[in-house]
Amino acid sequence: MTTEGSGLVCPDGYAAIHLDDVGSTNAEALERAQQGAASGLWVVARRQTAGRGRRGRSWTSEPGNLYASLMLRDPIEDARLGELPLVVALAVHDAVATALPPFARADLAIKWPNDILYAGAKLCGILIEAAGMPGSRVIVAGMGINCSHHPDVALYSATDLAEVGYPTEPEALFALLSEAMARRLAEWREGSFAPLRDAWLARARGIGETIVVRLPGREVTGVFTGLDPDGRLLLRNDQGLETISAGDVFFGHS
Ligand code: BTN
Repeated sequence: MTTEGSGLVCPDGYAAIHLDDVGSTNAEALERAQQGAASGLWVVARRQTAGRGRRGRSWTSEPGNLYASLMLRDPIEDARLGELPLVVALAVHDAVATALPPFARADLAIKWPNDILYAGAKLCGILIEAAGMPGSRVIVAGMGINCSHHPDVALYSATDLAEVGYPTEPEALFALLSEAMARRLAEWREGSFAPLRDAWLARARGIGETIVVRLPGREVTGVFTGLDPDGRLLLRNDQGLETISAGDVFFGHS
């Protein structure tokens, strides 16, 4: 285990910096990659002033929650990069599950591809960004985990760990997260995606249910039948079986 001046603890082979205020930990991690930082750098901030969400949305980032981004260089061969969002979701699920008492873990679920829900409400969002840099492809996986507050969002219901009765300090959660991430990434790189895909499916919300997937410019409704071998969502409806690579999933009651 290493602790870098930041007071944050992360596993060997990783480093972490803890910032007070930053625009976006994702942007900061990309910037540091550009400046030559080694793969495995975590950027954690107490507050973000320009937190980024999926599809160009913003991510409310006042102090009290965990805002963390992991920068990786060439994490795996290009053909397998599409698996990463699910591997990251699994690691976040592991970390949050560890912070909960065992009886509460059944309420934790993953929404495709990588939101973490507690009792159906969003507890964590993940944004993965990539940049080609001379000599390597840089990937940044950014996580916002609601520890003590959550925004009021029109699109979906949200919650935080304190609201559901399990207040957790962001720094304590980061220690669990960095550990879980190192473990899942090692499992992924050293083996095939299949066991991780199975683990993801075992924690997924909505398999076998009718869902709506909002894609750029259209919506599709169908039964969420599972994942293809690469982690894409499989949706069955009257038109047949559709394989979806990106989109926002909505359940019957969310
Ligand atoms: C989503 O829209 O669900 C994804 C939200 C991702 C937010 C996190 S907070 C840490 C990292 N830095 C950012 O600017 N965004 C991600």
